[in-house]
Amino acid sequence: MVKSLETPEPQLLKPGIKAPVRETLLTPRFYTTDFEAVANLDISVNETELRAVIEELRADYNRHHFVRDEEFQQNWDGITGEKRRAFIDFLERSCTSEFSGFLLFKELSRQLKDKNPLLADAFNFLARDEARHAGFLNKSMADLNLSLDLSYLTKNRTYTFFPPEWVIYTVYLSEKIGYWRYILVHRHMQANPEYQFYPLFRKFESWCQDENRHGDFFKVLLRCLTTSRKASTQPQLWNNWTARLWVRFFLLTVFVTHTMTVFERATFYESIGIHPRKYNNKVIQETNNTSARAFPLILNTNEPTFFWRLEQCSENNLKLAEINKSNRPKIVRFFQKIPPIIGIIWHMLRLYLIKPIDAESIRETVR
Ligand SMILES: [Fe+2]
Ligand SMILES: [Fe+2]
Repeated sequence: MVKSLETPEPQLLKPGIKAPVRETLLTPRFYTTDFEAVANLDISVNETELRAVIEELRADYNRHHFVRDEEFQQNWDGITGEKRRAFIDFLERSCTSEFSGFLLFKELSRQLKDKNPLLADAFNFLARDEARHAGFLNKSMADLNLSLDLSYLTKNRTYTFFPPEWVIYTVYLSEKIGYWRYILVHRHMQANPEYQFYPLFRKFESWCQDENRHGDFFKVLLRCLTTSRKASTQPQLWNNWTARLWVRFFLLTVFVTHTMTVFERATFYESIGIHPRKYNNKVIQETNNTSARAFPLILNTNEPTFFWRLEQCSENNLKLAEINKSNRPKIVRFFQKIPPIIGIIWHMLRLYLIKPIDAESIRETVR
């Protein structure tokens, strides 16, 4: 059994409404960006491809998918104890991250309406999908007699500013990792139906196709960044050696965060028959391979220390969580936190320095 934390009892904002989890580096963030710069993105070189992916979004293949059919109409009080707490935590984090996508895409669509109607349409379709995803997860929470007050979240969470280039790279990655997270759970449930304790997982197959399409849209935006004709307005930064360093950084931070969250929630994965380590490794390997279609390089997950170092980051993260939970004086906790923080930075640095793989060399072999 993988070491993990016990999930705390949910705190309430008011009866039936769950208080959002305390913001940490691992809780899904809410983003804002430079809308003017997104509106001015030079899409001319990739316009045909962009229109094709937007048509796919417009087609709205999943418009009849997110229906709470008969299977949901029952009493879920049978889900109890640690499994119930861990499932609520899983639903909450997933709902918050879907909702964070909704807010960013909705705002982009609103801000770009007059300046760039084509992109505004696209962001509107993305917001439509993420609202469905968040809503569906929130209704699942309501089945467990709790839900999130999404308007409270909208007003009370901190918004982090990311320049458009960062948004495009990180959203691309989070859509693709989202695809792999959902599809692997779905495949596991199909092969082992005895673990299907709640019908949400049945919805994941078509759901993850939404995430896949979102990722494909961001892949075209990524190309727009690297093939712009307007060198003066669009920094060439994204087509040179600095871009390669950034790509390594984005891949690494997404993989470290994923490892930490999977191991924090190890009990939940074990309760549905998923081995947390195997699941984490598979999600990362597949996302890394998929990224070769969009990025100039990917990380070398076959390097012998790669996953070991990711797990060392997670171990240190669990130590930090334990320290935060303790009742010791603040100053004591401050000094106790220094070694695990240094540990995380050290292992991330070593991971960052592993020689990456040139994407061109493997592009033919990846999906
Ligand atoms: Fe989504
Ligand atoms: Fe998405």
